[in-house]
Amino acid sequence: METINWNPAQVDEAADWLKKGEVVAFPTETVYGLGADATNEEAVQKIYSAKGRPSDNPLIIHVSSLSQVNEFVTHIPEEAKLIMSHFWPGPCTIVLNKKGPLAQSVTGGLGTVGIRMPDHPVALALIEKAGVPLAAPSANSSGKPSPTTAAHVLDDLNGRIRGIIDGGATGVGLESTVLDLTDPETPTILRPGGVSLEELSEVLGDVYMDAHLQDDTQAPKSPGMKYRHYSPDKPVYILPEDSVQAEHIVDQLKRKGHIPGLLVSEQSAALLNQDKTVFFSLGDKNKPSEAASRLYDGLRGLDESSATVILAEPYKPLGIGSAYMNRLEKAAEWISESL
Ligand code: TXA
Ligand code: MG
Repeated sequence: METINWNPAQVDEAADWLKKGEVVAFPTETVYGLGADATNEEAVQKIYSAKGRPSDNPLIIHVSSLSQVNEFVTHIPEEAKLIMSHFWPGPCTIVLNKKGPLAQSVTGGLGTVGIRMPDHPVALALIEKAGVPLAAPSANSSGKPSPTTAAHVLDDLNGRIRGIIDGGATGVGLESTVLDLTDPETPTILRPGGVSLEELSEVLGDVYMDAHLQDDTQAPKSPGMKYRHYSPDKPVYILPEDSVQAEHIVDQLKRKGHIPGLLVSEQSAALLNQDKTVFFSLGDKNKPSEAASRLYDGLRGLDESSATVILAEPYKPLGIGSAYMNRLEKAAEWISESL
């Protein structure tokens, strides 16, 4: 199948294909999504096969209006209404008990559904024109870093999807926060993301982190969190915070014949010897949102470069830094023993 490349003014055409049961990639404020009509089982199956995604990993439903939510959940608790009024449209997915006409495979067999309203004019226009909620995971091959540009999507899925709307680079750069409100008394973050724990707590009071996020031996409540994720093909290693120790590791790897790919802030780059390395900037160390928006592009870019190993800088796990570290740790889980 030839993948059609649309510009944002051609959103009507893309919506027509969605109505016909095809899959279309589109920009959101977090990462590119791969959308299909959430009420059409065959269409949703096409998402799983294009991505090579395990069928027990549920998809997020994307809506363009609050009234759409009522069709798919048994009840909207006050806490969910508060989150919607503060953070929608925006990078917060709310998990509630499901009902109604959703395709079976959207929720991977669960009794709950994750819903969000993306904060992107193209995404909102597309959902509205399609006239149905869109099931949409990140538009990458399963296991790869999520796409933050149309080029990333095409690298992974060209020829496997009907089309893509190119809306330029996404803003946040990491996926939405997944917040479980099925028990509204204990709001629980299943996946850290674009809206931070600190921001959610200001609105809801106590907010919890799924046990899995603190302790690897606990089973994750969010099925997607148990899979290999966000990983380029080359091994990813998290550098020590201390620049002398970091330099030592870079030197050691060079002596072993490696070409280190440095994914570090401008400040750290100035302290490291960049001779015989490949460098990708995460921006200003004092602005973790810059690192968040560049992480996936950096992982993909260094994967394609002459680097043989990727060395990434850690950030404080506060605010968006928490999501950044969650993704980086997942990408680095499969470090090769040869390091
Ligand atoms: O920012 C985002 O959320 C992007 C854009 C495209 O909206 N989408 C995204 O989708 O990241 P995906 O499929 O790559 O990740 C969805 C995550 C997975 O970890 C999945 O397991 C979890 O949300 N999830 C979805 N429905 C759930 C549910 N009912 N219960 C628990 N976790 C759920
Ligand atoms: Mg994903």
